Amino acid sequence: MDVLQAITNRRSHRAYKAEQLPEEVLEKILRAGLEAPSARNHQPWHFSVVQNPELIQEVHDEAARVMGREGSPRFADPDFQIFYYAPTVVFIFGEKGFSWTDVDCGIAVENMALAAEGLGVGSVILGLPKPAFQGNKADELRNRLQCPEGYDFVIALALGYSTDTKAAHDLREEKISRIG
Ligand SMILES: Cc1cc2nc3c(=O)[nH]c(=O)nc-3n(C[C@H](O)[C@H](O)[C@H](O)COP(=O)(O)O)c2cc1C
Repeated sequence: MDVLQAITNRRSHRAYKAEQLPEEVLEKILRAGLEAPSARNHQPWHFSVVQNPELIQEVHDEAARVMGREGSPRFADPDFQIFYYAPTVVFIFGEKGFSWTDVDCGIAVENMALAAEGLGVGSVILGLPKPAFQGNKADELRNRLQCPEGYDFVIALALGYSTDTKAAHDLREEKISRIG
């Protein structure tokens, strides 16, 4: 798929089939993450791929516990899971103390989301797991997710074959100033 087409077609998908991604498709998506540019080519990221639904649920449960019900209106729905039961979740951990970590991890996650789109895989970028890495179980979860020493959670990407359809978000032309 043409890169502009992938950018235009990408949506945040919030419903997935249980069907797992083929390994070769996942590898291409992860490679797109590794291919992302980064400040001084520092690559201050680590991608932890989780396909164990119990572990994914544990991260959800801990994020929900730390956040409390006020964390997101979506928690009012008892069936809500922050990962939308996607079969694969990539946790992106970033190096603490490097000025460009958040920017670089943001670029990497979008590279992976666009690669997924191009390969017919749905995705959603997720900030909501963050509280799971801020409560009592933070160290335990970082260890189990093989977060390297000196790194912490930045963002996650849920991946799978989506079952929802969604309109494109509004485009705010006023967000562009053309100077001379
Ligand atoms: C940094 C970041 C964090 C996000 N966190 C969440 C999240 O935790 N849960 C969720 O459902 N969507 C999350 N999203 C998706 C946004 O809600 C979505 O990108 C936005 O509504 C625009 O919709 P679109 O992606 O379909 O164009 C996040 C997106 C970004 C870029």
